[in-house]
Amino acid sequence: MSNHLTLVGLPGSGKSTVGRNLARRLNLPFTDSDHVIEQRVGCSIRDFFSREGEAAFRDVEEAVIRELSEGPPGVLATGGGAVLRPANRQRLREGGSVIYLRSTPEELFRRLRHDAKRPLLQVDDPMQRLRDLYDERDPLYRETAHFVIETGRPSVARLVNMILMQLELAGVIPARP
Ligand code: S3P
Repeated sequence: MSNHLTLVGLPGSGKSTVGRNLARRLNLPFTDSDHVIEQRVGCSIRDFFSREGEAAFRDVEEAVIRELSEGPPGVLATGGGAVLRPANRQRLREGGSVIYLRSTPEELFRRLRHDAKRPLLQVDDPMQRLRDLYDERDPLYRETAHFVIETGRPSVARLVNMILMQLELAGVIPARP
């Protein structure tokens, strides 16, 4: 087992921002799997979705998650749908510690209402879509994660401190002086 710290959660829960800050605090490399996917397919996720469809995206996502989870340890931010495939859930869970950033659909809507990048939210009723995604995925995030962090409204710095405290208490990282 390697020692990745992986962030999972719905779109807009702060996986990339929190992940980047967590990596900085721990002096570890940071990778965003969506970024790696975009580099691989040579266009934005939104364009790839509309050209090739969701199933093709999930295939690339699974391949990228497999490669990253076999690579050198670091902090990994995943796309919100990374937990949909059982193989991904197992790989992520066995590859280190998984942190679920849990936010309510209402909170996510507040953050994402002007978002145009996320293909799954380009619908007439994005609030209802977020509720449906939450109902479908909250159990999958919980099944994959070792830690659940309620995002609510604290600052990124406070969220990162909460995560560091949990990881210390669990003995995943050494206690800070
Ligand atoms: C998706 C979330 C996106 C991206 C893709 C699909 C999803 O990542 O992977 O658009 O299924 O929820 P974010 O969670 O970073 O938005």
